[in-house]
Amino acid sequence: MKSIKDKIIWITGASSGIGEELSYQLNEQGCKLIISARREKELNRVKNNCTAPKNVSVLPLDLGNFEQLENMPEKAVSFYGKIDILINNGGISQRSLITDTKFEVYQQMMNINYLGTIKLTMQTLPYFTRQKSGHFVTVTSLMGKFSSPYRSGYCGAKHALHGFFDSLRMEHEKDGIDVTLICPGFIQTNIAKNALTGDGSLQKKEDDATKNGITAHQCAKEIIRAVEKKKFEAYIGGKEKYGVYLKRFFPNLLHKTVLKSSVR
Ligand SMILES: NC(=O)c1ccc[n+]([C@@H]2O[C@H](COP(=O)([O-])OP(=O)(O)OC[C@H]3O[C@@H](n4cnc5c(N)ncnc54)[C@H](OP(=O)(O)O)[C@@H]3O)[C@@H](O)[C@H]2O)c1
Repeated sequence: MKSIKDKIIWITGASSGIGEELSYQLNEQGCKLIISARREKELNRVKNNCTAPKNVSVLPLDLGNFEQLENMPEKAVSFYGKIDILINNGGISQRSLITDTKFEVYQQMMNINYLGTIKLTMQTLPYFTRQKSGHFVTVTSLMGKFSSPYRSGYCGAKHALHGFFDSLRMEHEKDGIDVTLICPGFIQTNIAKNALTGDGSLQKKEDDATKNGITAHQCAKEIIRAVEKKKFEAYIGGKEKYGVYLKRFFPNLLHKTVLKSSVR
């Protein structure tokens, strides 16, 4: 296992939750960071809360603005001369039944969670192939491995990320490129508050499951361990992570279990 120490790491979704925690822990381990999200003020807050803020550069971006993403890797590389790891972590969730959900909400789920991440990855790929090394770490979700009610658009977008990144890993292994897919379960962050409801407005309130999940601190710790081990996939959370194995070996049982849990 190679240590992550001293790596140059670009993190999206770094203004809150898992990305914020990753920033603190990676900064503490001596990494140089480029931190991205839409809210510059929050990114500066995260930078100033880091142990070594001089090793943190702020690069605001909107994953839903594909044109803006075009030259972002060039800007990211300009801070320290290269990027070793891109952590695709930025994203938003959904809480609404299919019958209550506008088509535009599905578009937003795909644009931000899937297409924005793909765009950033595609623009970064030439840098990684040229330097014959690079690690794409993408935070999907357990909802990228199996589904639950109220999250149809989110589940679709997170499943799609697995399809894309499994192909990328196969096509670019020869270029020294690694791919790790991180699948968290319930983690205590603002994800539920920021989730879109059927009409596109924010849910603005906490879910019990998210509130009772593991901390973002614990999640970030486990993500770093998975990245160091260059794992293909990592499942992080409480007992919900066993849903991955139920889905694979006993899909009918998973179906019944998820429905019985009445998770919102
Ligand atoms: N918490 C969980 O239970 C859980 C479970 C499974 C997977 N995940 C995944 O973990 C990742 C991080 O989420 P979190 O739990 O830390 O939630 P969070 O606290 O709401 O953080 C989400 C982050 O994504 C950024 N973001 C949202 N929309 C964006 C956009 N259009 N462009 C750029 N950045 C954007 C937000 O920053 P700005 O608002 O400043 O743009 C924020 O930094 C997400 O991909 C999420 O799907 C979370």
